Amino acid sequence: MTEAKRRAAEKAIDFIEDGMIVGVGTGSTVAYFIDALADIKHRIAGTVSSSVDSTKKLKAHGIPVLELNESGPLQLYVDGADECDPKKNLIKGGGGALTREKIIAEASDTYVCIIDPSKRVPVLGTFPLPVEVIPMGLALVGGVLTQLGGNPVLREGFVTDNGNLILDVHGLQITDPVMLEQAINQVPGVVTVGLFARRGADIVIEGHENPEVW
Ligand code: 5RP
Repeated sequence: MTEAKRRAAEKAIDFIEDGMIVGVGTGSTVAYFIDALADIKHRIAGTVSSSVDSTKKLKAHGIPVLELNESGPLQLYVDGADECDPKKNLIKGGGGALTREKIIAEASDTYVCIIDPSKRVPVLGTFPLPVEVIPMGLALVGGVLTQLGGNPVLREGFVTDNGNLILDVHGLQITDPVMLEQAINQVPGVVTVGLFARRGADIVIEGHENPEVW
């Protein structure tokens, strides 16, 4: 799937206009995007990064990284996903960067999602749904997620860039992602749920020899 990730990532460069500040996601597919971005870095005004990891990669290429509070709203956000359904609803957070990713997605006019073909699914939920939780609320949130039909499992040895924990929720068949996103968001202690449905992707690029854009 590495080749498919690279193809999707390189195709996303087509969406960049001169002078843009580009929102940059996190993950192995985005790592290819950052490499491709380095080749055209003179054409962009900078980036806003969704994680410490992506910031490091961007800076290593000499690509300027700005704070979202300085840049203001963005025209374009490029990020991957763990699953994508036919309506472009997503599960994200496999890399644990879901909160900053959701903030940037919300602040962006267009979210271009770059995936390899294995990420395209008819119904979300085979990939365990990540939920970022404030440590004090872990047991409470875990209990509610169980009531909602899931099996929450603590991501062992992992702390988010925001100092929180991740529960990976197994066993969900997510037929109404907008409703589930809202239900989980409302639980005290939840920082972010990795369902991107209320604000999903706008454009998906699937990595093939000729990348499919839909
Ligand atoms: C990180 C994410 C990533 O976009 C998602 O995990 C996909 O990663 P990869 O490109 O490595 O398959 O949501 O929080």
